[in-house]
Amino acid sequence: MSDISFDGRVAVVTGAGGGLGRTYALELARRGAAVVVNDLGGSVDGKGGDHTAAQKVVDEIAAAGGDAAPSFDSVSTPEGGASIVRTAVDRFGKVDIVINNAGFLRDKSFLKLTWEDLDAVLDVHLKGAFYVSQPAFAVMKENGYGRFVFTASNATFGNFGQSNYSAAKMGLVGLSNTLSVEGARSGILSNVIMPVAKTRMTEDLLGDFANYLAPEFVTPMVTYLASEANTTTHGAFSAAGGRYASVFWGLAKGWYAGQDGIPTAEDIAAHLGDITDRNGSIVPSSITDEIVALNGHFTK
Ligand SMILES: NC(=O)c1ccc[n+]([C@@H]2O[C@H](COP(=O)([O-])OP(=O)(O)OC[C@H]3O[C@@H](n4cnc5c(N)ncnc54)[C@H](O)[C@@H]3O)[C@@H](O)[C@H]2O)c1
Repeated sequence: MSDISFDGRVAVVTGAGGGLGRTYALELARRGAAVVVNDLGGSVDGKGGDHTAAQKVVDEIAAAGGDAAPSFDSVSTPEGGASIVRTAVDRFGKVDIVINNAGFLRDKSFLKLTWEDLDAVLDVHLKGAFYVSQPAFAVMKENGYGRFVFTASNATFGNFGQSNYSAAKMGLVGLSNTLSVEGARSGILSNVIMPVAKTRMTEDLLGDFANYLAPEFVTPMVTYLASEANTTTHGAFSAAGGRYASVFWGLAKGWYAGQDGIPTAEDIAAHLGDITDRNGSIVPSSITDEIVALNGHFTK
């Protein structure tokens, strides 16, 4: 395969002042993209803020001969999201790529979770991705080209102390899947990355395991998904320490009770094996695939 180039492309990477986002920004710029390096700064639990993180990455890109502009806005407000996209359009004329990556943790076991911890985490991960992606989608639609990468997490499989975070991250899977449906006719592809990497967010949690998990191992998967070479949409990919794997949200064949009578709870119990049997399952690429599967039963 020929080299993947980002010449002429404009990318927004949120939370790119450190950790994973920084590696994405550096790699896209190295391959020719003009990059908006967005980062509010601040602590790992989302407190405070300062401009040095984003500016340092912009300086690093410039020193390597690349093109980048800083953005210090928060993704957590509609005004912040609009301003991040405006920076791309004002400085570079458009936006082709959005990597929604900014975020922080407020881990608490469920009964200790405060509504403030819930709101802060939903605001930065889930609503923040809406606030940045909607104005970017408008520009992409106009230009007939776009690539979104949303950052979910393996916490979507369930993780103690991360009810707020795992719910926000699962929300991004739904958002990405719908943007892949809505963007299909405009050349807009949307995918999800589920990284595991040693960053300030995880180094205390991962222990020695972190030694296998350089963030740079995640970068090639994100770079591919953000590129013109990518033809995949509606996907989710786990990337960690050199292992890359598709993650999917499937639908079992199930048990069809027929329409002659409403089945009882006891019928459900009796057929649970069929209901949960994964043989013959599908991975719907939109709601239509389930409707088609249902219709197959109704019209037999
Ligand atoms: N590191 C992992 O193993 C891992 C695992 C699963 C998911 N993730 C996700 O990957 C993404 C990157 O995390 P990381 O590990 O690089 O952590 P990180 O703390 O190094 O990077 C997150 C960045 O987002 C920035 N940020 C926070 N709030 C912001 C806001 N409102 N507006 C703009 N920027 C803001 C922070 O300043 C920080 O630089 C996050 O979405 C995280 O949830 C990471």
